[in-house]
Amino acid sequence: LKFVCLANDGVDEHMVWLIGLKNIFARQLPNMPKEYIVRLVMDRSHKSVMVIRRNLVVGGITYRPYISQKFGEIAFCAITADEQVKGYGTRLMNHLKQHARDVDGLTHFLTYADNNAVGYFIKQGFTKEIHLEKDRWHGYIKDYDGGILMECKIDPKLPYTD
Ligand code: ACO
Repeated sequence: LKFVCLANDGVDEHMVWLIGLKNIFARQLPNMPKEYIVRLVMDRSHKSVMVIRRNLVVGGITYRPYISQKFGEIAFCAITADEQVKGYGTRLMNHLKQHARDVDGLTHFLTYADNNAVGYFIKQGFTKEIHLEKDRWHGYIKDYDGGILMECKIDPKLPYTD
């Protein structure tokens, strides 16, 4: 089992994983238009943290780091159906936080959470109260009707992974 974080960099193996992740999102997020999922997963300004097992993608999170604003927007998050509720979603989020802090220099995440995923995000330290000053994110992330805006502050020191 391994966790990788990468963007669409043209490397063959990475492309295969990103397509696998796109397919998981398309199945697990049926309300999202498939073309929109493909566009963001393949967009070079987005990155994806993925769980890989026996060279197959089990799930992942696609996000856009806004480096100058020091926050990231989580676009999609999913684990393949038969591997849910085994702890992968939690480990994935911890790898994302570690990477976003240590590589991207981010302090916060924002996401529009689906109603049924709010419980998962709360367990990952997200809140419905937005503490980040509005001028740091307003105009960067776009309003999205189908979800609830949630925020997570990344701890500046905590080791999130071992
Ligand atoms: N609602 C409430 N609690 C949940 C949910 C949920 N939908 N999913 C998991 N949890 C809980 C688990 O019970 C667990 O609690 P515990 O620590 O007390 O045992 C904790 O959250 C973490 O569970 P994991 O096993 O780490 O989570 P999992 O691997 O199943 O991943 C995920 C969670 C990503 C939500 C997965 O269930 C999934 O893919 N769901 C379908 C797609 C989805 O809803 N994605 C999020 C949409 S919003 C967005 O993408 C921005």
